[in-house]
Amino acid sequence: MNSIIEFLRESTSSASTFDEACEITVRELRRLVPHFSWVGIYVRQGEELVLTAWDGPEATQHVRISVGQGICGLAARTGETVVVGDVNADPRYLACFPQTRSEIVVPIYAEDDVIGEIDIDSDKANAFTDEDRQLVERIAATLGGLHP
Ligand code: SME
Repeated sequence: MNSIIEFLRESTSSASTFDEACEITVRELRRLVPHFSWVGIYVRQGEELVLTAWDGPEATQHVRISVGQGICGLAARTGETVVVGDVNADPRYLACFPQTRSEIVVPIYAEDDVIGEIDIDSDKANAFTDEDRQLVERIAATLGGLHP
């Protein structure tokens, strides 16, 4: 885990904008962790989450999500990581891809504010371990530190 965090810290430190750091993060995370099937970063704009970077086999129709809506909106509203082991059993889930079975959403903090979040879908049920959660939370902290 530490090598992925170090690698991402180094690769994002050379990014010239926050959006570019998000692009690098989604691309590399998906490449490095096989069960991360789709990786996206939403940035908060007022009461909306706006999809800023993503990497995966297909685009999502959910490019803007209201705070409070879906798993993404829940994580933004509460400021806490949400892990859903079986998306089909969770009524809060907003469906994107038919093959998705589990999801993790981790808020990105800059100082005390949630400025966005990392959203990862997996095609495997119960894919996200405690170690994945720590990994993504530490990457979110790196990105939060880069936010202007
Ligand atoms: N499933 C999310 C919506 C975003 S897609 O996974 C890309 C949710 O429930 O908020």
